[in-house]
Amino acid sequence: MAEPTDTATLSLKGKSYDLPVFSPTLGPDVVDIRKLYDQADVFTFDPGFTSTAACESAITFIDGDKGELLHRGYPIEQLANKSTYIEMCYLLLYGELPNAGQLSDFQQRVTHHTMVHEQLHNFFRGFRRDAHPMATMVGVVGAMSAFYHDSLDINDEWQREVAAIRMIAKLPTIAAMAYKYSVGQPFVYPQNSLSYSGNFLNMCFAVPAEDYQVNPILAKAMDRIMMLHADHEQNASTSTVRLAGSSGANPFACIAAGIACLWGPAHGGANQACLEMLRAIGTVDRIPEYIAKAKDKTSGFRLMGFGHRVYKNFDPRATVMKESADEVLDLLGIHNNPTLQVAKELERIALSDDYFISKKLYPNVDFYSGIILDAMGFPTSMFTPIFAISRTVGWIAQWKEMIAEKNQKIGRPRQLYVGEKHRDYIDVNHR
Ligand code: ACO
Repeated sequence: MAEPTDTATLSLKGKSYDLPVFSPTLGPDVVDIRKLYDQADVFTFDPGFTSTAACESAITFIDGDKGELLHRGYPIEQLANKSTYIEMCYLLLYGELPNAGQLSDFQQRVTHHTMVHEQLHNFFRGFRRDAHPMATMVGVVGAMSAFYHDSLDINDEWQREVAAIRMIAKLPTIAAMAYKYSVGQPFVYPQNSLSYSGNFLNMCFAVPAEDYQVNPILAKAMDRIMMLHADHEQNASTSTVRLAGSSGANPFACIAAGIACLWGPAHGGANQACLEMLRAIGTVDRIPEYIAKAKDKTSGFRLMGFGHRVYKNFDPRATVMKESADEVLDLLGIHNNPTLQVAKELERIALSDDYFISKKLYPNVDFYSGIILDAMGFPTSMFTPIFAISRTVGWIAQWKEMIAEKNQKIGRPRQLYVGEKHRDYIDVNHR
């Protein structure tokens, strides 16, 4: 850690405490409160971590007010337009863009790890066919720790590297298998001749009975979806992976924990929830009813695909995703389906409505990704698994960064206890 750049002073019960302040390369300064409890016997209180930096990281930077997202310093718009998902994986993991040789070597390593242990197939067969693919993925990814014993030692850098490559390579295979199992079709093995995203589409949509050609425009759109979801600094699922990893848990267990967290509708589950909401609205004339419900605090209803904890201007990923959505819909000749009409009108109304403007609620990346995935032929239940595939590299990069830290500590938040004070046990017959 660099030297402090300033000091903050906290006054409490007649005493004052000096707290070191550190300056990041970008973003707000941080007040270091690590010694506060020892010195002042107080905790800080920040449920939801809205003002708490839980780690140092050099991977991703977000400026929510400017609507800026940088990976290793590179703006997401440039990466989404010029790079590929596999190149971004390299960048996130190793910190620099690869040269041509490094890229082809990395691609080769990922490609040659895409098959899963044949015995893992039995795991899928143990699930009900109507299981949500995220449920299957949590189980199967967690179970990988029972198969790949040679990459479980987190203190061995080489083993960490192998685990990282294995997960980036195998997650698409596992997600596609979860999908195939749910529709009762045979598993399709990975094809080394295809790109990362092309191979994923092939594993999802090919069947043994006929030829399937991956459409390059759809493969590019899929690659973009993956790039736009690859990492997002300390979001809920990434923090879950870091917290799980801080105890020394093996990498497969940590990623399974990340997948479980991502599933929630306030996080990765929003893309599924958003499309289901658009379908439930059904027709443009019913939008006002849903807008009114979203504004009514007692309804508990939120417009899915709107709002973000960090972006309070616009979500730069949503801008790129919107372009992709237009391209894919054009390619597939989808111009006027009812869900799309509802989406466009909802976007228009929400962007001009005072409630949404004043609370800075803009369509987020999930609003548009669901529309593309639906057009490609994915059922809504596959939307979040595709997010999980994409985010795996972010989780792994952050996990590797944390493990490599010299003074890494187990994550252990404190609390503001509001329960009963000390009381004595009363025997059951006397209660
Ligand atoms: N619809 C209606 N009102 C909303 C919405 C929404 N989607 N999102 C936030 N608000 C309102 C809240 O009611 C609150 O109002 P108040 O100030 O009057 O109490 C205000 O806006 C701020 O909301 P918070 O919940 O405090 O904001 P927070 O940063 O905690 O939540 C979140 C962010 C969880 C993403 C929220 O906007 C939401 O639930 N959105 C819908 C789900 C969604 O699309 N999630 C995907 C996130 S992107 C991703 O994971 C890739």
